[in-house]
Amino acid sequence: MRHLLDTRTLGRAEALRILDVAEDMRDTQSREIRKLPTLRGKTIVNLFFEDSTRTRISFEAAAKRLSADVINFSAKGSSVSKGESLQDTAQTLQAMGADAVVIRHGASGAPHTLATSGWITAGVVNAGDGTHEHPTQALLDAFTIRKRAFGHASRGRDLSGIRVTIVGDILHSRVARSNVWLLTTLGAEVTLVAPPTLVPQDVSAWPTSIRYDLDEAIAARPDAIMMLRIQLERMNAAYFPTEREYARRWGLDPARLNALPEGSIVMHPGPMNRGLEISADAADSPRSTVLEQVANGVSVRMAALYLLLAGERDDRDDQGRDDQGAADAADAPGRPAREESAR
Ligand code: NCD
Repeated sequence: MRHLLDTRTLGRAEALRILDVAEDMRDTQSREIRKLPTLRGKTIVNLFFEDSTRTRISFEAAAKRLSADVINFSAKGSSVSKGESLQDTAQTLQAMGADAVVIRHGASGAPHTLATSGWITAGVVNAGDGTHEHPTQALLDAFTIRKRAFGHASRGRDLSGIRVTIVGDILHSRVARSNVWLLTTLGAEVTLVAPPTLVPQDVSAWPTSIRYDLDEAIAARPDAIMMLRIQLERMNAAYFPTEREYARRWGLDPARLNALPEGSIVMHPGPMNRGLEISADAADSPRSTVLEQVANGVSVRMAALYLLLAGERDDRDDQGRDDQGAADAADAPGRPAREESAR
């Protein structure tokens, strides 16, 4: 694997390979000494142009557990225009000998620009770009769903027959987009639920069904329900009447939690707005996998960094792509727009 930029063009075999390596990584994390020597001597730069708590820490933990050197570069607040600052920063990283760059950026497409610009030779991992994609989040979500569904028998399995319902601010969510592509590639049936104002215009081209009523979606008995954060910082207009009204119609309140079928799980990528999209009852219930998702995130990111830096380095074109995939990618939702997202 040369880069990990999106799940839209990630093939099934490649996705399963990352999940299976993540299983191996997870097994090493229950040992007394959790640090592996695998990436000793490699330098990984965390380049965060946007706020992040768990994703940045998760990548840092993953890199350190593989014995890589980690440099954290937090570029938030930089007033230089993004195009320029990205090039300058990239060239600085190149001069410092970065082997991999983990980038989070407010502009959709920034990781792709970095990977294809020729500014750096390092592998690039997208840690969230604008409203476009967040591939490692989707991989850790798929890992969590698979683990809950199949336990020890997870390795090699896809998500055929599993029903996942994603609820909330789909419009602004890179987590939703990455999950739609990855989960459907893995065979899951994905349903989106949102107020009409928070549904992207091009959603009809997505391999999902869409509902506007959360109670009906719950009655359809999902195996996993994924609640999304209302991204107020990306909203420059009123997308719903009041927060109270949103919580009443699209929030996972105690009654809806109880209506979920037995064995189904409640997911959230964090950070949660408790009382808005998810009630405290749901967030803290035994069904909630929120903390499992965080723990699995480290294993999945270890796997991604491993495959990028220690896996077949000569296998440069092996990204599960084919020409059709590349052509389709041009029509992908939230495709690289290279604009600042509204904050
Ligand atoms: C998500 C993100 O930043 O895209 N959070 C995360 O990575 N854990 C989702 C969000 O911010 O709502």
